Amino acid sequence: MLELQEVGFNIRKNGEDVPLIDQVSVRVPRGHFMAIVGPSGCGKTTLLKTIAGLNPESSGALFWEGRNLSIDGDFMPSEIGYVPQFSIAYDPLTVDESVEAATRLRVRSQDTADLDQRIDRVLEETGLTPISDRQVKVLSGGQKRRLGLAMELVSDPKILLCDEVTSGLDPRSEREIVRLLHDLSRKDGRIVLSVTHSLAHLELYDSILVLHEGRVAFHGPPEQLNHYFSVADTEEVYPRLAAQTSERWHTSWSKHRESYEQMLAKKRAALIFSGVLQVPDETASATEDVHLPSFFSQFATLVSRRWRIFFRDRGQVLLQLAIILIFPILVTIFSDKASGNIRRYSDTKQSDVFAAIQEQQSVRSDQAKVGSAISGIIMFQVVLLSLMGSNNSAREIAGERPIYEKEKFGGLRPSAYLASKVAFLACLVIGQSLWMAFFVNFFGSFRGDFIQHACFLLLVNAAMTTICLAISSLMRTAEQASLLSIYLVGFQLPLSGSVLALPEYIEVFTRPFISAYWAWSGSVNALQTQVNDAVKSVIDTSLSSHQSCLYTLGAHIGVALIAAWAGARRPQWD
Ligand SMILES: Nc1ncnc2c1ncn2[C@@H]1O[C@H](COP(=O)(O)OP(=O)(O)OP(=O)(O)O)[C@@H](O)[C@H]1O
Ligand SMILES: [Mg+2]
Repeated sequence: MLELQEVGFNIRKNGEDVPLIDQVSVRVPRGHFMAIVGPSGCGKTTLLKTIAGLNPESSGALFWEGRNLSIDGDFMPSEIGYVPQFSIAYDPLTVDESVEAATRLRVRSQDTADLDQRIDRVLEETGLTPISDRQVKVLSGGQKRRLGLAMELVSDPKILLCDEVTSGLDPRSEREIVRLLHDLSRKDGRIVLSVTHSLAHLELYDSILVLHEGRVAFHGPPEQLNHYFSVADTEEVYPRLAAQTSERWHTSWSKHRESYEQMLAKKRAALIFSGVLQVPDETASATEDVHLPSFFSQFATLVSRRWRIFFRDRGQVLLQLAIILIFPILVTIFSDKASGNIRRYSDTKQSDVFAAIQEQQSVRSDQAKVGSAISGIIMFQVVLLSLMGSNNSAREIAGERPIYEKEKFGGLRPSAYLASKVAFLACLVIGQSLWMAFFVNFFGSFRGDFIQHACFLLLVNAAMTTICLAISSLMRTAEQASLLSIYLVGFQLPLSGSVLALPEYIEVFTRPFISAYWAWSGSVNALQTQVNDAVKSVIDTSLSSHQSCLYTLGAHIGVALIAAWAGARRPQWD
């Protein structure tokens, strides 16, 4: 039994509490199919989220099987299924792959046969078997809703919450989905609560809850709806609702509530008696709890799904390839000047002052030419790798946030999610950075410790990737995250000090945060003494030691990962 006692949910607006849901009291027994209807904006989704525990109730209490949900803990992830108003599947995956991933993330299976059986059963139940190999992006609206349901059914939830799963469908598909929901409520005593603003097919529900401005205006059998609102046609219920304030509807409902509850109880007893409705023994069902898969199992599922999505998205693969190939070519175009010779001062002291000045001038001119070319090339590599870093991860979390939130609600560990992102991005970072380092080195050998240089290129890409991943997990939308990441890369070059020296009072504050400076400085330090001197002779910015460059970039990665973790843990529903 699910019971809501005087449940309210408020938001703060201009310093005041505004109720979106107010004094909602309702009892829903096992095996019940209830519609929550009401005009747009009346609080249906808010009520569903409050039941799901996504909106903590501001007043009243919710009970599930006698358990107070706010005191004894929320629903277990496997106990509840929530099909939100938006699509929760990835377009490039097939129906079968989507359901398989949902199962692997939510249910600990004993073996592959058990897993396959579960997937097949769910596909069968939702009528998706004939189209199981079709990609999500080509599915019709009705098929997508079925898929949303299938992905929730994998854990056999005892309570299924559906938000507008019939909206935007043609009458036939709508009826099919309502019928499917009805059938799902007839199995294993599952409660199905379906939010809809459509007043069609109400006869298939066990009860109808009418919500008006966040308050209950009616809850009773569908055949009593017209009578209660004194209308000839169900379509007239909404105009009728608007004729009175929600307070008045609520007051009159409070007077009639008991008699309608008795009607519902009688109807239910008749259904059980005739064998149409089978309600399992509630104590028995508690023992068959579904266990969550382990961290590693969720991690492996996510990594393999991420690669599959990556390779299915041809545009993304081509973009990655283009970036990986073209960026190093751009750098090599400029590498010619960096290979020039730097004359040395002769060991013997020049007797002629004129000759000494001339020697000094030619050495300085070599140093200026080669030094600025080498410094420029290193910075060019660093900036391009920073750009790759932001391109790698700026949309990574923000772009799929609703799906991630949904999966987190279903039991996905944020740690497994973040680890899967790190593993996927690490492959990109390693591939991009080492290819850049080796390619450029092949055409114009690095004049110093190449391994150290490659290491700094890898670190700057990793730092930018993790920083942008953190931005992606903290921002509300993918657009915000991309924009901020691009600005961040844009500021790397001017603030690095490699081109223009900054005023000292600014440099003190900006330098610690500019990954590009530390990678550039570290790479310049790795140059042979003579080349290093040449670079120093053309820059006005001080260089930092090898160690401090290494530690600072390490710190950037560490702090960014902590921020990404905080962002991934934080609930962020719309
Ligand atoms: N977090 C929030 N902050 C401020 N207002 C909110 C918030 N969530 C919902 N609302 C407001 O509360 C009201 C109820 O929203 P809700 O989404 O529950 O409506 P609904 O009945 O599901 O509507 P629809 O049928 O259009 O989906 C709306 O006016 C909405 O703008
Ligand atoms: Mg809604």
